[in-house]
Amino acid sequence: MFGCAEVVYQLLKRGARKMNKNELKQWVSALPKVELHLHIEGSLEPGLMMALADKHQLVLPYSSIEEVRSAYNFTDLQSFLNLYYLGASVLIDEDDFYQLMWAYLCKCREENTVHVEIMFDPQTHTERGIGFSVFMAGFTRAIKQAEQEWGQSCLLIMSFLRHLSEQSAIDTLDSATPFLSDIVAVGLDSGELGNPPEKFTQVFEMAGQLGLKRVAHAGEEGPPEYIWGALNALDVHRIDHGVRSIEDPDLIAHLIDSQHPLTVCPLSNTKLKVFEHMQEHNILELLDLGLMVTVNADDPSYFGGYLNDNYHALIEHLPIDKYQLRQLVENSFKASFMSEKSKQRWLENINTD
Ligand code: HPA
Ligand code: ZN
Repeated sequence: MFGCAEVVYQLLKRGARKMNKNELKQWVSALPKVELHLHIEGSLEPGLMMALADKHQLVLPYSSIEEVRSAYNFTDLQSFLNLYYLGASVLIDEDDFYQLMWAYLCKCREENTVHVEIMFDPQTHTERGIGFSVFMAGFTRAIKQAEQEWGQSCLLIMSFLRHLSEQSAIDTLDSATPFLSDIVAVGLDSGELGNPPEKFTQVFEMAGQLGLKRVAHAGEEGPPEYIWGALNALDVHRIDHGVRSIEDPDLIAHLIDSQHPLTVCPLSNTKLKVFEHMQEHNILELLDLGLMVTVNADDPSYFGGYLNDNYHALIEHLPIDKYQLRQLVENSFKASFMSEKSKQRWLENINTD
């Protein structure tokens, strides 16, 4: 893949000066970064959840922030989703959605996450009678404010809930019509097992015809066949998670060749027991094989950390070096839906040392 001079240069760069773990953490925290796999409803912190429950006089099965946190002991994806949908039930009016989005964007500013592609789950709200005009107004108010105040770059991905029917996804796409100029892509999330990508072939095709890009969760709990399904039936630009691709050598070869990005979420994967311990995570193996792997937080409030925490967990538990970290950060820019010009500008910016 590299010419001889490039190989020597890369080796020199890797060996130049070995940073210790703290130095690596500080270095990656300060780098401009991108996040591509983030569910806004999964960034709802217990403090805001309790405050909104109070505001709307809703009763939650928690009496304190500590009780909320101690409930976050998950055994699998579904055990998390049950609490995630419960938490989202406190989001009711425009200002609730504004506050949710604003809190996450302020975190991006703090962590130097300069560009984000944020997923939201319309059906989680429309099923409760809360319409697009309510949550889109709150989201876009916060996004515009962050753009104006510090130049935050932000795109929105509308995710369909895969445990619901394809007709419900089609109706959702239809309801989104007046808001499509604020949406860059469609996605697919929620319970994976038993809900293969092929179930959503038609709605993804409709989204493509509307000019929307496409991503889908696949190969988190589901088998490699679901990743093939997302690639072949849904024509996705990226796979969310995708860590189970390692079980299928033909798929690995295909992903190396096609460079379809995987948006990997290390803390999520250990919290939901996709891997028992971070030391067992396969992200470095996938990266070193040449897949377009990226690092993301998924649902930071539920999984114990935002983007920097995910990089820090890799530094703490895996034998990752500065070269591999930089590659992961670069990959996120390359895998994003930002313009080619912006990508180039950022890539030059992060390659100065
Ligand atoms: N997987 C599937 N659905 C989700 C997730 C996830 O990690 N987070 C929010 N919805
Ligand atoms: Zn996710």
